[in-house]
Amino acid sequence: MDISSVLQGGYQHPLSRKWQAKRTLTKEMLMYPIFITDDPDAHVDIPSLPGQSRWGINKLEGFLAPLVKKGLKSVILFGVPLTCPKDGKGTPADDPEGPVILAIKLIRKLFPSVYIATDVCLCEYTSHGHCGILHDDGTINSVPSADRIAEVALSYAKAGAHCVAPSDMMDGRIKTIKRALIDNGLGNKVTLMSYSAKFASSLYGPFRDAAGSAPSFGDRKCYQLPPNAKGLARRAIQRDVGEGADIIMVKPAMPYLDIIADAAELAPDYPLAAYQVSGEYAMIVAGARAGVYDLKTMAFESTEGILRAGCTLILTYFTPQFLDWLDE
Ligand code: PBG
Ligand code: ZN
Repeated sequence: MDISSVLQGGYQHPLSRKWQAKRTLTKEMLMYPIFITDDPDAHVDIPSLPGQSRWGINKLEGFLAPLVKKGLKSVILFGVPLTCPKDGKGTPADDPEGPVILAIKLIRKLFPSVYIATDVCLCEYTSHGHCGILHDDGTINSVPSADRIAEVALSYAKAGAHCVAPSDMMDGRIKTIKRALIDNGLGNKVTLMSYSAKFASSLYGPFRDAAGSAPSFGDRKCYQLPPNAKGLARRAIQRDVGEGADIIMVKPAMPYLDIIADAAELAPDYPLAAYQVSGEYAMIVAGARAGVYDLKTMAFESTEGILRAGCTLILTYFTPQFLDWLDE
């Protein structure tokens, strides 16, 4: 064999295989999405998201304490209002007695080391289930939408969130939120993570079950990106960098690794997040249950792909399992 044909000598040992990575998963890279509901005593399993639950505020300590002990560093909170009246502008989103604001305050108090991000969107709180404010004809009304999203983000920031993460995809919301944070003395205290390249994906199904946030009519195609859209995704990433985002996110992760690589190239000086969404998690778990592969091996393979593409943090429902697996 020709000298230059032989590669196997370079990765025949478990350790030399590890050295092939530019970046390896650590606990610091994991952000755990959790669902907080308005029944304070709830612990309700979500059938389409096996192993995940909706939690009431009174159950958070028991739920999170063992994870924090294992090295949980950050969470992203999603509110699931089940009893409150919803309206056109998502009034309950920033109710001071609502589950997200209560959870921010409680987690800060109970677990001061935990970094708290909050998803910011209206769909869980609007009567129509869309992510913004609508005109009478059902189309998006962009300016009031961005203003309302910024108002909600500011409320979460004031309640003590370390990071606000708008997932609504309304035009102009990043700059509106950044302005609101700065004008309220929080510009240097709160991180703005933009769901920049968020695609209109089939993989959000279990999340919409979990959060009760499916739109009551139409779909989200006029604000979430078409799955075929590489150019639009690149423009969205560049726009959000220009509007003051501190972290860029690509979502979902696995079918969009090329977009992650593009984001790493377009925004090399920023942390880059990927959201391994509910449908990706459910798919990986279902495949393991069907005997297609070993769950842990596949979960690691999925994150290795995401890191290889260029991410520096991953939002994943596998976080509790990774905290165990990374200790093995
Ligand atoms: C709502 C939101 C969604 C997700 C995060 N925030 C769903 C959607 O846009 O319909 C998806 C997360 C997941 O599937 O895990 N703006
Ligand atoms: Zn939404």
